[in-house]
Amino acid sequence: MGIIYNEQKRIFKLDTPNTSYILGVGDEFGHLVHIYYGKKIASTDNLSKMPSVDEKNKVWYFDGTKMEYPTGDIGDFREHCIEIRNENGQHALECGYVSHKIYKGKPKLEGLPATFSNEEDCTTLEVVMSDSIAGIEITLIYTAFEKLDVITRSVIVKNICDERVKLTKILSSCLDVENNEYEMLTLHGSWGRERNIQRKRIGYGRQGIYSERGVSGHQDHPFIALLEPGTNQTMGEVYAMNFVYSGNFEAQCELNQHDTVRLVMGINPYQFEWTLESGEVFTAPEVVMVYSSEGLGKMTRTYHDLYRNHLIRGKYRSIKRPVLINNWEATYFDFDTDKLLSIAKKASELGIEMLVMDDGWFGNRFDDNRALGDWVVNEDKLKGGLKYLVDEVNRLGMKFGIWFEPEMVCPDSDLYRAHPDWAIQIPGRNPGRSRNQLVLDISRKEVRDYIFDSLSKVLKSANVEYVKWDMNRALTDVWSHELEPDRQGELYHRYMLGVYELQDRLVTEFPDILLENCSSGGGRYDPGVLYYSPQVWCSDNADAISRLNIQEGTSLIYPLSTMGAHVTDCPNHAVGRTTPFDTRGAVALAGTFGYELDITKISDEDRSKIPGQVEMYHKYNDIVREGDFYRLASFSQNNRYDSYMVVSKDKKEALVTFVQVIAIASHAMPVLKLQGLDPGTNYYIEEKHEVMAGDVLMNMGFVPNNENGDFKAGLYHLVAR
Ligand code: GLA
Repeated sequence: MGIIYNEQKRIFKLDTPNTSYILGVGDEFGHLVHIYYGKKIASTDNLSKMPSVDEKNKVWYFDGTKMEYPTGDIGDFREHCIEIRNENGQHALECGYVSHKIYKGKPKLEGLPATFSNEEDCTTLEVVMSDSIAGIEITLIYTAFEKLDVITRSVIVKNICDERVKLTKILSSCLDVENNEYEMLTLHGSWGRERNIQRKRIGYGRQGIYSERGVSGHQDHPFIALLEPGTNQTMGEVYAMNFVYSGNFEAQCELNQHDTVRLVMGINPYQFEWTLESGEVFTAPEVVMVYSSEGLGKMTRTYHDLYRNHLIRGKYRSIKRPVLINNWEATYFDFDTDKLLSIAKKASELGIEMLVMDDGWFGNRFDDNRALGDWVVNEDKLKGGLKYLVDEVNRLGMKFGIWFEPEMVCPDSDLYRAHPDWAIQIPGRNPGRSRNQLVLDISRKEVRDYIFDSLSKVLKSANVEYVKWDMNRALTDVWSHELEPDRQGELYHRYMLGVYELQDRLVTEFPDILLENCSSGGGRYDPGVLYYSPQVWCSDNADAISRLNIQEGTSLIYPLSTMGAHVTDCPNHAVGRTTPFDTRGAVALAGTFGYELDITKISDEDRSKIPGQVEMYHKYNDIVREGDFYRLASFSQNNRYDSYMVVSKDKKEALVTFVQVIAIASHAMPVLKLQGLDPGTNYYIEEKHEVMAGDVLMNMGFVPNNENGDFKAGLYHLVAR
């Protein structure tokens, strides 16, 4: 395993347990060509000769060769990864191999979230290439993981000439593969309908997804995968890329004249222009590549293991999170200390462990038209102040959490009146408002310092143990008072770097606080924010049935331990549907689990179910959080029912969830072929009082109980005997 260099052939081979990634120095000039990515190859000794440039047809060479990091204006007319403009107005870049190094471990990426690992678990290859005419040096960084089929990529660009150079495009990853009638899998959505799976056969030309919103967004997701025809959970070849970044991105796939497919991912070049003075560097965010020859399920479990062990940090990374109750859907803006305490009191009696006070506790915030930026407790609402409230909640035996939307400012706020130039907007132009708010210019240090100081004052004033970091609008009118006119193209990325710096300060200064990211529901749910917060609010739509698709798409990549999921009241506030309380509980148990309803007002019958659900959370959360995830059936595909399971790493325990969305006649119940069990072990199924062998459950299958009605759910706990 690891990375080897065949010096004679000038070929690098990166190995993970089941895959190999091969690239080479193609010719005397040193163009870096891509050779192979897929199932493991033992040796590079007998690989056929690499293509080399025929000067008479150099343009053809570039346009037809599989390239490792294609550059612009030299003949590769497919999507390329990097573009520059130097003082001469020249764009072309032709980079040749200069040097390389291979070492154990993985480097940090300056100012950016990234996966991490110790020296035992991965090996890194850095290949330096340069174009001496343009004065640009590019370092490609590849890390191969030893125990997971993961290869990460990032890029550092350096200006090695005396003059300034403009970087106008920089993607992080490129993969050229022969076409195999591939489908493209992406995740699309909207508010309340995040990360729904979309598969479509790729055609000639460019196709892809992107965000130009300044955030990763509800609409497209920074993830793309190529699937061979017929790929399902257990079979088929999958090439996947996921971007560890929360801002503008693009992910493209291009089928070209030679029937090769180019897959690229990186920062969206839209309005991007970065000045590199002599000697300066730019670091592009990381792409996580996973190859699976065993279908989507294997890909999912690889991402889950990687993110749980090599991305998420902090105290809560692998421990149970407190069962919370959030007051947003219970009260919206209409609450005071007494109301919150009445919720906390009831909740504590039923076993709920933390009260989260959502939007509306600060400044003049009685609705969503004002006060963002004024992070000072409104003592008319919270009589006795925050400390009194938190102490009372603590006295009930509960923890306390709080909501902020740190990146925003309302025009009607003391902050805006004092510093109108701190908002991102264009002088003289009436800026686009969204929810009556503007975005703060987080690229500016003084703005970040103000935000951090006002947040920390609140956090230090009482025993706050959880923060929900919200972000409720996209960026528009993108212009900063602090940047020179010819540097305005840096703002989107500088904004993200600022957000990352702020979140890093927060988790460094308050290491015991549990941070949950949120963006109008799940509008910024990506590997970038997972570096700072172990969980992310998945969607403002907590309807149990809508959540099946949302959580299916989310869990395709992200561990269940990261998926913010609550039981809410019915009719559901987002879609108006009424579902059984048990089903809402069963679906939320696949995530972080909590409640978001007025516990003082729901029916006695619903309320009486809460202690049982909390008990189930404590019983099952270890395997939900740490286990291997298997999708058994998909409501989004069959339109009738949904099912998935988690299996403990030692295969001694499993939890199967079955949601019968449309009523099914008892004789027509589906047979679920379970996965991931030990074939030679007998399992006791608690809910059926029955023992069944692992091989029987996986090969003959398991028939869930008929739940008799729409929207019903069943949970089945399997314990090895
Ligand atoms: C966003 C969040 C909600 C809630 C509101 C408060 O929409 O997704 O959960 O916090 O903001 O304004």
